[in-house]
Amino acid sequence: MKAIETHDLSKRYGKTEVVAPLSLTVPAGMVFGYLGPNGAGKTTTIRMLSGVLTPSGGTGTVAGAPLSDPDAVKARIGYANQAASVYGDLTVAENLRFKAALYLAPAEVEGAVNDTLERLSLGPWRNYLAGRLSGGWRQRLSIGTAIVHGPSVLFLDEPTAGLDPVARRDLWDAIYGLTALGTTVFVTTHYMDEAERCQEVALISGGKILAQGTPEQLRSGLAGVRYALQAGDLNAALHAARQMRGVEGAWIIGDEVRITAKGREVEGELSRLGTLRAVPANLEDVFVSYARAGGRA
Ligand SMILES: Nc1ncnc2c1ncn2[C@@H]1O[C@H](COP(=O)(O)OP(=O)(O)OP(=O)(O)O)[C@@H](O)[C@H]1O
Ligand SMILES: [Mg+2]
Repeated sequence: MKAIETHDLSKRYGKTEVVAPLSLTVPAGMVFGYLGPNGAGKTTTIRMLSGVLTPSGGTGTVAGAPLSDPDAVKARIGYANQAASVYGDLTVAENLRFKAALYLAPAEVEGAVNDTLERLSLGPWRNYLAGRLSGGWRQRLSIGTAIVHGPSVLFLDEPTAGLDPVARRDLWDAIYGLTALGTTVFVTTHYMDEAERCQEVALISGGKILAQGTPEQLRSGLAGVRYALQAGDLNAALHAARQMRGVEGAWIIGDEVRITAKGREVEGELSRLGTLRAVPANLEDVFVSYARAGGRA
C-alpha cells in the first residue's frame, strides 16, 4: 500500500518553479524524511500534499484520496506546520477538542481527545493554557492536534526545530509510537541525526529531488573517501588539507579535521599533517555532496 504517490506534481509562482515536477512514492507505515536546505521547497511540497495549496501541475493521491479533492485529503491526513501553531488562549484539551470537532461526530470527540493526550503523554498538561507551554510541549500539542481525528498520514514540518536534545529525542519516541499504530509520517528536518532515524529519505534542493533511498543506500552510494585527522594545530592542518589537490572539503569537528577526498591518492600527504584514519560516510556527507552537485547543475 502506498501512503503517498505523486506524478509530476509541481508548483510555480510566476516564472519561478519552486517545486519541479515531482514523482514520489512513500510506502504506508514508514517514517519518510524530506531533507533539503532552506528554500528547497519542503514546506511547499507538504502544503500541496496536505490539500492546503493547489499544485500548478501534476497529480497525486495521499492516504487514498486524490489531490484534486482537497477536502477528502484533509480529512485523512494530519499536518503540524513549521510554526507549531496552536491556540494560546485555549487549554491543551480545548485545542484538541476544537480540531477533533471539525472532523469527528460529536460522540467521538471526547474519546479521541483522551486517546491523543495519552499517546503523546500530554495528560498532565490537559488543563494548561497552550500559550504557556514550553517549545517542546507546544510542538507535542501541535502534533496532537494533527493526529486527533485519526489520520493515516501525518506531515510534520520541522517538528524539532529549536528543541533541546532531550526534547528532540522524546519527540522522536512519540513519532515512532505513532508509526507503530500504522500511521505514515512524512517529516522534514535539518538535523542529520534525525534523518538517520528515517526508514527512507529524499534529498531535495532547488525544488528537485536529488536522491532517494534508505540512509544506508545513500551513504554507500557516495563516491570518494573520508578521513578524520588529529593534529596539534587543527587550524593549520585544516588549511593545509584544503590546499591539497584531491581534497574536496575539510572542516573541523570537535578535536579533529574531517576531510572528504576524491580518492586514496592524498592519503600519504594527509598523514604527514597528523594522525589520519579513514571514517565511514554519514548522511551529512551525502547531503553536502548532493547539495554541491545540485548547485552546479
Ligand atoms: N507564496 C509564495 N510566493 C512566491 N514564492 C514563494 C511563496 N511561497 C514560497 N515561495 C518560495 O518558494 C521557495 C521554497 O520555499 P519553501 O518554504 O517550500 O522552502 P523550505 O524548503 O520549506 O525552506 P525552509 O527549510 O527554510 O523551511 C522559496 O524560495 C520561497 O521563497
Ligand atoms: Mg519550510
